[in-house]
Amino acid sequence: MPTEAGTTWTIVVAAGSGSRFGGDTPKQFLEIAGKRVVDWSVSAAASVSDGVVVVVPKGSSVTVPAAGLRCQVVCVNGGDSRSESVRKGLAQVPDTAQVVLVHDAARPVASAALMATVVAAVRNGADAAIPVVGVVDTIRDLEGNIIDRSQLQAVQTPQGFSARALRDAHASGAHATDDATLVSAVGGLIVVVPGEHWNIKVTEPDDLRVVAALLGERL
Ligand code: CTP
Ligand code: MG
Repeated sequence: MPTEAGTTWTIVVAAGSGSRFGGDTPKQFLEIAGKRVVDWSVSAAASVSDGVVVVVPKGSSVTVPAAGLRCQVVCVNGGDSRSESVRKGLAQVPDTAQVVLVHDAARPVASAALMATVVAAVRNGADAAIPVVGVVDTIRDLEGNIIDRSQLQAVQTPQGFSARALRDAHASGAHATDDATLVSAVGGLIVVVPGEHWNIKVTEPDDLRVVAALLGERL
């Protein structure tokens, strides 16, 4: 449900090629449990948003229908890097937006509750709110050193931002694997919220089987 105080928009980045996943169709456009991976991600985002910008591959005319969603959906072509794709999406977010979420299309199991938690953290004053989960495996670097996993956390999307902080962070045209890294680099306040262990990013083909099982439970 859209938020009362000022508007919330979500950028769903779906412009990647899915090189680790492979295949002819990028992973986010494969169908699982009745709809495409990207449609599941947009649907969760729409539950907290006044508008969703879906960033689709450069040169592609693929669209995401707004039918059945509570908010408007805008589709725009992305860029060669994730950060570039976010910037293309951000250019479509109206100036009236106060909170902007960025979500990977490749994370179709993120819950509406997680979206709402991230929005609330931004409304409570964070420049950026990021979901994190602990690391469960033993971590060994390439030289064989064991890294103390209790000091590590894995960062997910949806990530939430004050619109001002996100626009400032992207103004330099920098690149990173997520947006909170860019906000942090310009001195923004990052707040962590509990992530969801099942909120995996579809990266390799086996991930799709896990995600299909999880989403199948929601039908
Ligand atoms: N993404 C994007 N534009 C890019 C690269 C990535 O919008 N130029 C999006 C992907 O579509 C995905 C999210 O960013 O939803 C996270 O990226 P990742 O999981 O790495 O997807 P890909 O970059 O497509 O996969 P790979 O790295 O295996 O090529
Ligand atoms: Mg990638």
